[in-house]
Amino acid sequence: MKMRAAVLEEFGTPLVVQEIDLAEPQAGEVLVRLHACGVCHTDLYTASGADPSGYSPTVLGHEGAGAVEQVGEGVRSVAPGDHVVTLFSPQCRECIHCRSPKTNLCLAIRDQQGKGYLPDGTARLSRDGEPIRHFMGTSTFAEYTVMPEIALAKISPEAPLDRACLFACGLSTGLGAAINTAAVEPGSTCVVFGAGMVGLGAVAGCRLQGAERIVCVDLSPDRLELARGQGATEVMVGGDDAVERIVEMTGGFGADYTFEATGNVRVMRQAVESARMGWGLCTVAGVAGRGETLDIVPRFLITGRRVAGSSFGGVKGRDGVPELVDRWLAGEIDVDPFLSHRITLDDVNRGFELMEAQDGIRSVIEFA
Ligand SMILES: NC(=O)c1ccc[n+]([C@@H]2O[C@H](COP(=O)([O-])OP(=O)(O)OC[C@H]3O[C@@H](n4cnc5c(N)ncnc54)[C@H](O)[C@@H]3O)[C@@H](O)[C@H]2O)c1
Ligand SMILES: [Zn+2]
Ligand SMILES: [Zn+2]
Repeated sequence: MKMRAAVLEEFGTPLVVQEIDLAEPQAGEVLVRLHACGVCHTDLYTASGADPSGYSPTVLGHEGAGAVEQVGEGVRSVAPGDHVVTLFSPQCRECIHCRSPKTNLCLAIRDQQGKGYLPDGTARLSRDGEPIRHFMGTSTFAEYTVMPEIALAKISPEAPLDRACLFACGLSTGLGAAINTAAVEPGSTCVVFGAGMVGLGAVAGCRLQGAERIVCVDLSPDRLELARGQGATEVMVGGDDAVERIVEMTGGFGADYTFEATGNVRVMRQAVESARMGWGLCTVAGVAGRGETLDIVPRFLITGRRVAGSSFGGVKGRDGVPELVDRWLAGEIDVDPFLSHRITLDDVNRGFELMEAQDGIRSVIEFA
């Protein structure tokens, strides 16, 4: 079939919206008609050429939500009409990682996904007979996508898709960092560095876990205001003295849980150092630049602090995303403030500009 999609032709150039071909779903695959897709930093990172593992031409986009249109042979977990959120982090439920409660890093399709292909090593996207690669296994800057069944989370049909798409990446990452990775205990003190989509999600996750104090640190007063809306009890403008101020606010000890959601390795270090002696846990969700390293003075670890990394918030997507969506529908998570701009597919490059200008939290592409 023919469809419109935003293609990254060459790194460092704007995406080009055009008509391309999409082949039928094969065994284990599903055709999804997209209703909405968020514009995320990872898309821009790849478009810019900064990502060493990036490739082109490709159709970017990974924060999608839509409806199943057609299923390939053997697909049982979704059917036409079902509403789904796309997962760049799949859940096969069979590999050694899926069977362990300790991780969400499914091993089933990593290699081919990383290369830009569906699990059988081929692409469904093409133009004039030449294959176009799939980005993050999702390629959701398009009217339709074909994806493996194991990379689709079936969500409640009640969930508005224009906001459900936010659960495909940043929001679940932040919520999950607090709920799954850190498993914040009720009554605890938490500090979240960064108040973008991920940090705000972490603030909401700490609140859902029953944290007593939630301090959010960011450079933008507007974003700190949003953090208050998500449950931050205190906010603070970041800077070189952030650790000192946090230690002072916490009776000289530091916080039970700290979260890093900026991608800046100096802030990661601050997050480690503001975790409490004895048991403080620092959860790192930010993605650092290529080749950057995190400096930790070992004394901080010897004296009882721990550091954990969190990919997609430790959320096993097919099980966890529908649960988070249900908590939103039940009124436990306030998603509306994250949808800052509604744009069309033709405006996708404007979505990047708005993100670079830090105008709002998320621009969401809506498909007609
Ligand atoms: N682990 C995962 O699976 C995963 C998923 C999605 C995104 N990410 C990463 O998480 C990070 C955050 O993503 P986002 O979409 O929320 O980004 P964002 O750019 O919207 O938010 C980052 C925030 O950090 C703030 N910040 C910058 N310097 C700071 C400082 N010195 N002190 C305090 N705050 C500071 C900025 O003002 C901004 O509000 C990125 O690195 C992104 O790549 C990780
Ligand atoms: Zn993303
Ligand atoms: Zn798996």
